[in-house]
Amino acid sequence: MSSLALRGIVREFGHLRVIHGVDLDVAEGEFVVFVGPSGCGKSTLLRIIAGLDQPNGGDVLIDGIRVNDRRAAERGLAMVFQSYALYPHMTVRQNLAFGLENQRLAKAEIDRRIAEAARMLQIEHLLARKPGQLSGGQRQRVAIGRTVTREPGIFLFDEPLSNLDAELRVQMRVELSALHKRLKATMIYVTHDQTEAMTMADRIVVLRGGRVEQAGSPLHLYNHPANRFVAGFIGSPRMNFLEAVAQGGSTIRVDDMPPVPLPAAAETSDGEAVTLGVRPEHLGFVAEDGLPGTVDIVEHMGGESYVYVTLANGARLTLRNPGQTALHSGEPVRIGISGAAHLFSRAEGEPAIAARRPA
Ligand SMILES: Nc1ncnc2c1ncn2[C@@H]1O[C@H](COP(=O)(O)OP(=O)(O)OP(=O)(O)O)[C@@H](O)[C@H]1O
Ligand SMILES: [Mg+2]
Repeated sequence: MSSLALRGIVREFGHLRVIHGVDLDVAEGEFVVFVGPSGCGKSTLLRIIAGLDQPNGGDVLIDGIRVNDRRAAERGLAMVFQSYALYPHMTVRQNLAFGLENQRLAKAEIDRRIAEAARMLQIEHLLARKPGQLSGGQRQRVAIGRTVTREPGIFLFDEPLSNLDAELRVQMRVELSALHKRLKATMIYVTHDQTEAMTMADRIVVLRGGRVEQAGSPLHLYNHPANRFVAGFIGSPRMNFLEAVAQGGSTIRVDDMPPVPLPAAAETSDGEAVTLGVRPEHLGFVAEDGLPGTVDIVEHMGGESYVYVTLANGARLTLRNPGQTALHSGEPVRIGISGAAHLFSRAEGEPAIAARRPA
């Protein structure tokens, strides 16, 4: 397995700069997920790592060696594309063997690698079939199998599950995580699905507009988002945001509603305009004080309930209630902060004033 480093990667198309100096270190065996909205540069970065695209500036290092001038085939990588394609006229076995025959590997070695990948991905019984005779998930496994047989130093995945239905995505997600553990492989996985990022990554790299907004473990990003963008991107249902004014560090006021206590003191100055961010599970119903509002809709998930509330000032909140609730539409409620509150400076993009958790 290999390590990867990006140093000041810049990519421009004409006058348009789409990657703005990205630095990143990926350790041997690490599972790193690039996540971010459409057009933020995920595929471009992956293609630069793969050697399918050239940066206008910066270096790509594999195992500490600069590989900018090495062709894709010489970098020891294997990639599954956003829209992967199997050869329709070839059997699964031939699809798996194709790249290896081009490498002029011995027949016995090719057979060994196919047998191993097929066993690992549970497609042994499909080797004689053609892609047209496979389900979507089976085709996906074959596409992944092609990368496994190449025994690359780094696996690159560009939204490999985007063509699958919801149930299959969940299943393949689990299989890919298991594959990573078995192979102890270095993997870089691109997605715009924050759930995939949260569940599979050792480390998530959040990109926006060709820049790294934050990189860290899933729970670090969840608990300590560096700014409002990361806070809103990671977590589902997403974090609630309210425009508010800090009062003496331990209370916050939203419009002319009663002030709400914060679970921990904040390093804000009295009267400072902030954006309050609270995750749905960190809001709760209180008997008195709290923010007055009305229940819009209750979604019963069985194990938990999502309660959508409109506050007196028209702002909307989502609460995640453990278990089942008897609340119903139109019911007046009062809402307090029961868990971590995050305060962000009003200017979008600026880092959190401080993310606070209850003592
Ligand atoms: N060949 C190209 N010529 C001009 N602009 C390009 C080219 N390839 C990509 N771009 C632009 O670069 C930006 C990043 O594109 P990229 O494909 O990396 O986004 P992405 O994060 O993979 O998005 P998605 O989630 O939609 O796949 C976009 O604004 C895109 O329009
Ligand atoms: Mg893409």
